[in-house]
Amino acid sequence: MPGKSVLITGTSTGIGRAAARMLAAKGYRVLATMRTPDKGRDLAEDAKANGWDLTIVPLDVRDDTSARAALQQAGDIDVLVNNAGFEVWGPLEEMTVDDLKDQFETNVYGPFRLITAVLPRMRQRGSGVIVNVSSVAGRVGAVLNGLYSASKFSLEALSESLSLEAGHWGIRVHIIEPGGIDTPFASNRRNVGAAAGNESPYAPMVQEWEGVMDRLAGPRGSRTKPEAVAEAIVEAIEKGDKLRYPVGTDAQMVLTALKAMDYEAFISAMRQQLGVTW
Ligand SMILES: NC(=O)c1ccc[n+]([C@@H]2O[C@H](COP(=O)([O-])OP(=O)(O)OC[C@H]3O[C@@H](n4cnc5c(N)ncnc54)[C@H](OP(=O)(O)O)[C@@H]3O)[C@@H](O)[C@H]2O)c1
Repeated sequence: MPGKSVLITGTSTGIGRAAARMLAAKGYRVLATMRTPDKGRDLAEDAKANGWDLTIVPLDVRDDTSARAALQQAGDIDVLVNNAGFEVWGPLEEMTVDDLKDQFETNVYGPFRLITAVLPRMRQRGSGVIVNVSSVAGRVGAVLNGLYSASKFSLEALSESLSLEAGHWGIRVHIIEPGGIDTPFASNRRNVGAAAGNESPYAPMVQEWEGVMDRLAGPRGSRTKPEAVAEAIVEAIEKGDKLRYPVGTDAQMVLTALKAMDYEAFISAMRQQLGVTW
């Protein structure tokens, strides 16, 4: 598919940045969108130095006007990669409806806004690819990430229905399911209640789970790199013979176990494996 146009959201860092670089290096016309275009100066310079067809386009996925302007600037696009996302983290009891809305604005309404905007043209053309970056958290809920998990479960459900509806018109839909990836994602998290250090009966849970996450992450530098997720995105775009693409050994392990046993046995195995008391 090199030569085709790809619009990617959230390319200022992490997975979006790695995907933008990889696709540009492979000869795609890349619309590298980000809400603060100044963060893309180095990417634009790299593109120039390497002769890549890459344009930085301002886009805040929470904003209709911004989305309309970005799509107008982008012109006809062959591939949409919904990657922008963040996490609201903390115990459900300490969350508000506004926290839930905040989480869904970026992780669900953002992709939905872009999908519905690009679909008519893709349908008329009879081709197109939509790649939604979900998470293992889109398949199983864990403590403290209920809102994030709910947003990624929603993205998975939208993607399943969309793959059937849009598939009829020749449009492919794919879901990427990374495990823990070495990006600034955790530091961009918005912590709520006990997770923000507030006095709370959930404080020991936060402490315990932070320890679990550190153990899972392993020694510094051993986490799955964002380039591995970018490779899965490229595979979905170019080969695209599956709906779901898990990425990372942790994702494979969790999703394989989830498939192999009933939910109660899975949770019990995970508790034992991770040594959690909650
Ligand atoms: N890292 C992981 O462990 C992991 C695991 C599973 C799934 N994921 C998913 O992978 C995707 C990328 O995350 P990442 O790991 O690359 O984290 P990241 O480095 O924090 O990147 C997130 C990107 O989303 C952008 N973004 C956030 N809100 C936005 C908005 N309203 N409009 C446009 N862009 C916005 C950020 O831009 P700013 O710089 O402007 O904030 C940034 O470019 C997310 O959907 C995340 O849920 C990550």
